Amino acid sequence: MLLLRTVRAVHRPLPMPCRLSVVSRFYSSPANAYEITETETRVNGQSIPRDAQTNVSPTVLSRMNRNLHLQPQHPISIIRQLIESHFTGFKTFNDLSPIVSTRQNFDDLLIPLDHPSRSRSDNYYFNESTLLRAHTSAHQHDGMRSGHERFLITGDVYRRDEIDASHYPVFHQMEGFAYFDQATVAKQVKEEMTHKDAPNVRVVDDTTFSDENPVQQCHTQDMVEPVAAHLKHSLNAMLRKLFADEPDLEVRWIQAYFPFTSPSYEVEIKYKGEWLEVLGCGVVRQELLNQAGLHDKIGWAFGLGLERLAMVLFGIPDIRLFWSQDERFLSQFTPGHIQKFKAFSKYPPCIKDISFWLPENKWQENNFCEVVRDVAGDIVENVKLIDDFVHPKTQKRSLCYRILYRSMDRNVTHEEINAIQDRVRDVVEKEFAVTLR
Ligand code: PHE
Repeated sequence: MLLLRTVRAVHRPLPMPCRLSVVSRFYSSPANAYEITETETRVNGQSIPRDAQTNVSPTVLSRMNRNLHLQPQHPISIIRQLIESHFTGFKTFNDLSPIVSTRQNFDDLLIPLDHPSRSRSDNYYFNESTLLRAHTSAHQHDGMRSGHERFLITGDVYRRDEIDASHYPVFHQMEGFAYFDQATVAKQVKEEMTHKDAPNVRVVDDTTFSDENPVQQCHTQDMVEPVAAHLKHSLNAMLRKLFADEPDLEVRWIQAYFPFTSPSYEVEIKYKGEWLEVLGCGVVRQELLNQAGLHDKIGWAFGLGLERLAMVLFGIPDIRLFWSQDERFLSQFTPGHIQKFKAFSKYPPCIKDISFWLPENKWQENNFCEVVRDVAGDIVENVKLIDDFVHPKTQKRSLCYRILYRSMDRNVTHEEINAIQDRVRDVVEKEFAVTLR
């Protein structure tokens, strides 16, 4: 699970795909105000105690409440609305708080206590029991309890990750969920599935039920087949509609694994010669429905990455653009329409290397990226490891990272970047006890 980040050819899933301290500062922007003290984080009217697990950073807190998915002219919102209009009869939830409990984000979804997706280096924790949601699946349980049989939940999700044109610590997902009566699902689904072909979209699906991707023991194949068919049909039809104007699109379904669905699938689309993962989905684990008191139901769920789709559909080359407040970005889009983004002039980059000896052999790249992001902000476009060697005599390990700085909307000066790079060096030295070279 927690896969929907990497825009590159995705290798087939492993069984379970793996994936500063700040003292009393007050930050405020028109959209958001938050305060970090030694003992608590105050945000959105909540005071959340800090503890040893706390790692929320000013950078991510400043992104809360931007609500890109609710700005009518924003590509993320345009896609949300187009998808919502495809899923008629689904109740929509678009303003659930991104501050969730570990129960919501993990336990309710049967994610084991020792699962890597819970790790501190992958998530933003307020404390050991509260975090910024890492996926919209955190709200499946509340959705099931809302009394709606079909719903869509859209929101900002937060993950610590690497830095490049397609990764950003905040992105947007849409969760889809539908359940049926176990007794009548076959009949109901048949009535709903009307097939419309689109010659420009080719869908390849050779997934089957198997020991590796099993029907749950409490289900019969006769129940699961129509549910899986309905799920696939709904998503394929949605993609056909969204990509109606693309000359040529390849879509493929592959088998996947999520703790909260079985069987599970991922959908990839081919973009510029590479397979891009755009969603994960599957037949909901019956324990989840049972927990919500829905014992005689059977359901499907999906989680869709909206930036992914927007980058392809609108031709947006860099994920930071979604956060741009530059008029030249937003003014290009119209609610209800997909149109190609016209790049405004690209400013020259400024490249700086940083190398250091590690105090020991352990190294968490995400934590390093997080520090760089915190110090440099959106001016950092890419961080790449360019050298990694172990000294033959001392056995000490040395790393060299190349940081590419570039502003989306102005020229940067060498003096400015030198000052930022100096701060990065200082903070990296202090945070990780490395010896700078
Ligand atoms: N939450 C999963 C993710 O973020 C996607 C998913 C949603 C998978 C619903 C199955 C069902 O990767």
